[in-house]
Amino acid sequence: MDILLKRTVFLLALVPFFLLLIRVQQNNLGPDPAQELSIETGEWALRFLLITLALTPLAQLTGEVRFVRQRRMLGLFALFYASVHFLSWMAFILGFRWMAIAEELLERPYITIGFAAYLIILALGVTSPRAMVRRLGKNWKRLHKLIYLAAVLALIHLLWILRTDIQEAVLYGGILAVLLGYRVFRKLGLIKR
Ligand code: HEM
Repeated sequence: MDILLKRTVFLLALVPFFLLLIRVQQNNLGPDPAQELSIETGEWALRFLLITLALTPLAQLTGEVRFVRQRRMLGLFALFYASVHFLSWMAFILGFRWMAIAEELLERPYITIGFAAYLIILALGVTSPRAMVRRLGKNWKRLHKLIYLAAVLALIHLLWILRTDIQEAVLYGGILAVLLGYRVFRKLGLIKR
């Protein structure tokens, strides 16, 4: 049963990627395909980050442990979409011109912030295998708390661009505020364990 759920979640998480591939193949990405790819993959990276952050509260509030069991895989999907986002930016916007890439990473604040979020998500992905959890012990938990910082940085990255309609940014920001607020309330004992 558990394995079936895992496989279903895995396949569902790949759907946005394949839909995007179909649009690429059909040349159906609008007037600025590179930008559209950036926007779509960036949004999915942020959505998977928020979904991953929602799993612990969902498990605690419902008592359904299966939510937590999808956490690692969905976190890795956030890394997957963020990697496609980063790669397509390097390839299709900057044509792998390494000097230009380095310059943008260092000199454009919204890019620097996105990159910082990416490095955190990458570090969490690299340390997600069970062997790493065992090896890092208590430090693993400390390190993985950085997921909150990654989500805040990703949101600042989005707000900085704010070409999207404000409503979307408010929605993502609101969801993140609820997810972080839940943890603060729980820590303060205002939500019962
Ligand atoms: C690796 C470093 C990153 C770079 C170089 C980068 C670059 C970009 C670029 C060029 C855009 C499109 C701007 C435009 O509209 O023209 C964008 C948008 C976006 N990125 Fe990133 N990004 C990075 C990391 C991330 C990460 C880690 C996340 C989320 C986890 C993220 C989420 C987003 C979102 C949500 C958007 C806005 C999409 C929209 O306009 O609706 N980015 N990023």
